[in-house]
Amino acid sequence: MCGIVGAVAQRDVVEILVEGLRRLEYRGYDSAGVAIIDGDQLNRVRRVGKVSELSNAIAETPVLGGTGIAHTRWATHGEPNEKNAHPHVSGENIAVVHNGIIENHGPLRKRLQEEGYVFASDTDTEVIAHLIELELKTSDSLLEAVQKTRKQLEGAYGTVVIDRRDPSRMVVARSGSPLVVGLGIGENFIASDQLALLPVTQNFMYLEEGDVAEITRQTVRIVDINDKEVTREAKVSDVTHDAGDKGPFKHFMMKEIHEQPEAITNSLEGRITETGVVTETFGAGANELLSGIEHVQIVACGTSYNSGMVARYWFEEIAGVTCQVEIASEYRYRTSVVPKNALFITLSQSGETADTLAALTKAKTQGYASTLSICNVPGSSLVRESDLAFMMRAGVEIGVASSKAFTVQLVGLMLLVLSIAKHRGVDEAIIANIVKGLRELPGQIQQSLSLEPVIEALAEDFADKHHALFLGRGSQYPIAMEGALKLKEISYIHAEAYAAGELKHGPLALIDSDMPVIVVAPNNDLLEKLSSNMEEVRARGGQLYVFADKNAHFEAGEGLKLIELDHIDDALAPILYTIPLQLLSYYVAIIKGTDVDQPRNLAKSVTVE
Ligand code: AGP
Repeated sequence: MCGIVGAVAQRDVVEILVEGLRRLEYRGYDSAGVAIIDGDQLNRVRRVGKVSELSNAIAETPVLGGTGIAHTRWATHGEPNEKNAHPHVSGENIAVVHNGIIENHGPLRKRLQEEGYVFASDTDTEVIAHLIELELKTSDSLLEAVQKTRKQLEGAYGTVVIDRRDPSRMVVARSGSPLVVGLGIGENFIASDQLALLPVTQNFMYLEEGDVAEITRQTVRIVDINDKEVTREAKVSDVTHDAGDKGPFKHFMMKEIHEQPEAITNSLEGRITETGVVTETFGAGANELLSGIEHVQIVACGTSYNSGMVARYWFEEIAGVTCQVEIASEYRYRTSVVPKNALFITLSQSGETADTLAALTKAKTQGYASTLSICNVPGSSLVRESDLAFMMRAGVEIGVASSKAFTVQLVGLMLLVLSIAKHRGVDEAIIANIVKGLRELPGQIQQSLSLEPVIEALAEDFADKHHALFLGRGSQYPIAMEGALKLKEISYIHAEAYAAGELKHGPLALIDSDMPVIVVAPNNDLLEKLSSNMEEVRARGGQLYVFADKNAHFEAGEGLKLIELDHIDDALAPILYTIPLQLLSYYVAIIKGTDVDQPRNLAKSVTVE
């Protein structure tokens, strides 16, 4: 989704702004722009396409100045063209960038047009610029004008405003779309994601819902939703500056696939003992809050939803608590019944997914015993809004297609399952055995990454395919779902996942030599059943690609290509079997020549509904 960067400094800020936008490219966008105050001029450059187009344009016609704002736009209102790219202006003075959606932009536009304002774009954002200009006529400061404007806006937004007549400050407002202030020495910054500002500062202050802030080179003045002056705590980030670099890899996604052993090791550090889980890992009071839990409701979107689906098997089988999993955009709009002693869990890499946040807001009014978030971004909205939180420590994930966040999320979920299992008196030996398995997991994942050349060769088979079917049973069914999601996201091949037992209830009709069928087959109680499903495919001329346990002793042959993995205990097998499916989708995408890190039409963090 859209990205925001802004700066108030003594030095020229254009390079800082453009580098910030580059670091936000992963979020997905279709145009980019900057507006900078140079003396008494407000200069604006906007381009459709990549940030590199914008930076080429700036190289040709340099823009100078110490106060500026920049934006990458992901179109919601109005086509992706230069006219609709941000920043938007009102006259010669006000420039605005904005993330999110202004829901009442229609009536506001009409009113402003009646006041004589002429609109230059089809966006909802432009109403903000004109409204601020209008409010300035009866206000003493830009801050006051933005406060008055905020009260008239409906929807979710993060916005930054500069005024040509006063380059000493920018004013920002947060309502439903994240904004973080970057604190420098004699200069200050704003961004929608701290990653954009890491080259200039490690010191951050997260704005809260409803905050409006006036930022100068030396000061940050914040007023909250009730217009009361407040302070927000500044925190030093431990995310490193080079988190946005690809290292030796061609794509962030491949880098992130390879980072999984380290990410899981980091995530486990200090959180497990020889035989169990340190429950305080989930936050102060976790022991008490989790002790009486009898039911779990998980809500998430996309890949995070798939990890919740795996956890459903774990919660019921290992901890003996009932568990439901639901897509956030469904949960938020339906009437649901909350059982007694129920825990509401949100799963999210970003912590800013609009539907998941809205579901949490709703859940807080529904009588859950507690809310818990498993999330990768410290300080994100979900983390701040939940009673308990498990910080994933997967490191920054930039590829739009989630990889390491999924497996680390599963690790966090398993720790939660074991914590609840312990409270419910589950045999300690069972818990200790899974903890041992978790400790061995990074090594096993490292080993599975050595399958890369085999999978790269296998991907050739998919080059001319338009569809693919993924099959799994039990807790591997959601892994088939995740495999299908990855393939469609980055290679644009239509892929579907089925619980293998469902095959003969419909999808079997699709099987022919043109439909590759990918099967996830660890050695477990369901193996025999799964083998029968595979035979159903083979008998109809389908081509099987089977990811199987070495001990399962499948034989490759006509209609069956075999990729063998080392044996792993069933509980953690879903995590391991994810890796070859990630590699497969990556190499198919490479063959298809798609944009692996920024697939078309998708954004990393979906902050609008
Ligand atoms: C994953 O590959 C996706 N791009 C997407 O489904 C993602 O998982 C979803 O948007 C949820 O994001 P979150 O985990 O940041 O909430």
